[in-house]
Amino acid sequence: MKNVLITGGAGFIGSNFIRYLLREETGVKIVNLDKLTYAGSQENLTHLEDPHRHHFVQGDICDQTLVENLMREHAVDTIVHFAAESHVDRSIAGPAAFIQTNVVGTFSLLEAARKIWVDEKNISLDEARFHHISTDEVYGSLGPQEPAFAETTAYAPSSPYAASKAASDYLVRAHAHTYGLPVTISNCSNNYGPYQFPEKLIPLMISNALAGKALPLYGDGQQIRDWLYVEDHCAAISLILRSGRPGETYNIGGNNQPTNLDVVRQLCAVLDELAPDSGVPYDSLITFVGDRPGHDRRYAMDIRKIEAELGWHPQVDLETGLRKTVAWYLANTHWVVAIRSGDDYQRWIEENYERRGEAT
Ligand code: NAD
Ligand code: DAU
Repeated sequence: MKNVLITGGAGFIGSNFIRYLLREETGVKIVNLDKLTYAGSQENLTHLEDPHRHHFVQGDICDQTLVENLMREHAVDTIVHFAAESHVDRSIAGPAAFIQTNVVGTFSLLEAARKIWVDEKNISLDEARFHHISTDEVYGSLGPQEPAFAETTAYAPSSPYAASKAASDYLVRAHAHTYGLPVTISNCSNNYGPYQFPEKLIPLMISNALAGKALPLYGDGQQIRDWLYVEDHCAAISLILRSGRPGETYNIGGNNQPTNLDVVRQLCAVLDELAPDSGVPYDSLITFVGDRPGHDRRYAMDIRKIEAELGWHPQVDLETGLRKTVAWYLANTHWVVAIRSGDDYQRWIEENYERRGEAT
């Protein structure tokens, strides 16, 4: 791994991964291809360690010629593919962009890799790797007693977002099987941490709480997610790039199962301690609102494969991770304020929450 093309590196996990790689892999150079949609920002890439090893290109992964040219110009040997439309609620409101970026975009990237690595043989396939970042949502929803998702669990995606990610996983596997592209896939559970766009549960709740606004829980708030601190996800991806077996899929998760209501209550307790100026306990702002259509009830990841094969384990427990996350948002209020005051954000919040009404 010398020259890495990272797609979506101006988003939440991608920008955290760039920080991680620049810190941990001193010989690696990065080309970061990002379209800068509403979810991406160069503000996520300030104060990088060793910034001359990071080259930013604004562009679309659907532009195959651009990707091929970048791969030739920078002798790319590794692709780490984060770029996606990533928010489930937005996929319900408008699925077309999800099909375009997540399905067509992934296909286009695979075709570029096939052309440069397999057809033109720009570098040996032994030295190449296409790593695809996917999600636990491809497996669907679990009942209360069902075992956690394993790599062998059948796909059963529920939302347009999950279906588009499942389709992209299948395309990645087809390119490996048919053309011999050296791929790995990781399916990860819910991430949280610094630089997460405040439309997702944890940063939305922190930023609403600090603004004295309602904390909107969908339905009964008893849905269960498996939360992972983003730095742990970055460490897992890095290990897979170094030691994962080509052709394999690895599940990644945090080994915890709180309800959404539990998570928000924990967050409120941390906020009461770290930002005590609000005058009221933050959990008094919790409000139950109309549910997400087709809302998956429970996710849980069986992570025994990556633990056994690669020795990866989550390092940051939920309590510590929430504390670090709240502390980051408190120290970076300018970042939150800039996003919250943007037109797209305000439009989205109105569209998503005003029509929901109260929980039934
Ligand atoms: P994000 O929405 O924060 O960032 C996505 C980035 O992709 C943005 O910078 C955006 O500008 C860029 N992008 C979007 N369309 C593009 C295009 N056509 N061309 C180039 N760039 C484009 O997403 P995230 O939460 O950081 O998720 C990153 C990846 O991880 C996604 O593939 C997502 O499916 C996956 N994932 C996310 C989570 C999570 O909890 N956030 C968990 C598991 C997997
Ligand atoms: O599981 C991995 C997935 O996690 C990733 O693939 C997605 O990219 C990522 O967005 C995330 O999807 P979720 O839908 O689980 O995340 P979100 O933060 O949107 O919601 C988490 C839970 O909280 C979910 O049950 C819905 C609920 N929720 C969310 C919001 C935004 C609320 O109750 N209120 C809210 O306002």
